[in-house]
Amino acid sequence: MGKKLLLEHDHVPGIQGYEVYRQHGGYQSVEKAVKTMSPEAIVEEVKKSGLRGRGGAGFPTGMKWSFLAKPEGVARYLVCNADESEPGTFKDRYLMSRIPHLLVEGMITSSFALGVNTAFIYIRGEYYYIVRILENAIAEAYANGFLGKNILGSGYNLDLHVQVGAGAYICGEETALLESLEGKRGNPRIKPPFPAIAGLYGCPTVVNNVETIAAVVPIVNQGGDAYAQIGIGKSAGTKLISASGHINKPGVYEIEMGITVEDFIYSDEYCGGIKNGKKLKAVVAGGSSVPILPADKILTLANGEKRLMSYESLSDGGFGGGTMLGSGGFIVMDETTSIVENLFTFARFYHHESCGQCSPCREGTAWMEKILHKIMDGHGTLADIDLLWEIQAKIEGNTICPLGDAAAWPVASAIRHFRSEFEEYVSNPKSVKVVRHYDAMQNA
Ligand SMILES: Cc1cc2nc3c(=O)[nH]c(=O)nc-3n(C[C@H](O)[C@H](O)[C@H](O)COP(=O)(O)O)c2cc1C
Repeated sequence: MGKKLLLEHDHVPGIQGYEVYRQHGGYQSVEKAVKTMSPEAIVEEVKKSGLRGRGGAGFPTGMKWSFLAKPEGVARYLVCNADESEPGTFKDRYLMSRIPHLLVEGMITSSFALGVNTAFIYIRGEYYYIVRILENAIAEAYANGFLGKNILGSGYNLDLHVQVGAGAYICGEETALLESLEGKRGNPRIKPPFPAIAGLYGCPTVVNNVETIAAVVPIVNQGGDAYAQIGIGKSAGTKLISASGHINKPGVYEIEMGITVEDFIYSDEYCGGIKNGKKLKAVVAGGSSVPILPADKILTLANGEKRLMSYESLSDGGFGGGTMLGSGGFIVMDETTSIVENLFTFARFYHHESCGQCSPCREGTAWMEKILHKIMDGHGTLADIDLLWEIQAKIEGNTICPLGDAAAWPVASAIRHFRSEFEEYVSNPKSVKVVRHYDAMQNA
């Protein structure tokens, strides 16, 4: 069994409540932090741990924290990004609904480290049932002296609020999230300035993912060095993976970084192999935005070694032959999957979710959806495949926020690795079934 730092107690009956959570070691990191550590010492432990942001970009958390500006007399904020918008990713939902106090504890310990007195959990509207769970956990934390004024007699004050969004993918992007939190339309801001300098209400702000904040708890409890020993190289610690698609055991798994992709897909501890004994065709390893890889490339590196579940190994090969760990949304496709139909679904999503601020994204995502529909409809030409390629290339890197890149990479990788499938749709359209499926979705 792999090491578990976050989901060790997720199946304990009653763990959602304060008493049981406390009996299983809950809130020790807050006690240790406010009674025995300085804020600077906690930031140092997080740096030592090697923790990298679990929201997708993998930016070192300790470094992000150390960028937080601390002008005299100006409020600072910590905002937890619980928008969880990336298709294929559902680990934050699992963590918040199963062990809500772990997030609340992580928010308190992290806020203390950052010198924050007001913190927010920004959560998508679709997760309304989790809002109640979180609010209940927060009320219990207040009642037991872990939130509010003079926490555990330390003189430290913290208020924690839950803010519900309206369920827009773009509001997962940190600056769009801050706009939304301020009550405005969720359009991404131009960076710099980064939130660490001018974030919420123009004040220095740290935005971190749910899992990142939760990981601060074991880091403070065990120390940064101990955390850094787990995992592999610069991919320290454990990672929650949302596994879905054609596998025998879909679900959320906490893995120690560095296990092989093959083990993750085929071992009974995790996905349990491909459903109905079918062959593996492709994997989207880190949520819909990351490049799709065919079976041989996801399992094996160019040098013949096995690919590992880590930031470095998954990206080995660059954009030509690698992918990304992203937010850990691991979507497995068997040999019966149509890559073109799957890509069309993704393209519809990005078109729908583009905020429209940048022309390449607003127009490009619309065109990519249209062309893919045309190809599926049996009216595509070989030139359309080249046009798709050109459009994605013109979106990538040319937008304020990375939603443009997120829309472009699936298209580029699908054409790169599965071009013959697109050509088959053009020369031998087997579109009828697919188009009916699409129309059924439209009319639903
Ligand atoms: C379109 C888009 C959607 C995003 N959605 C999320 C999200 O749902 N949750 C999340 O934590 N990060 C999301 N991110 C990444 C955030 O902008 C940001 O990098 C992250 O919250 C930082 O936290 P971390 O350093 O702990 O990973 C998204 C980014 C983009 C461009």
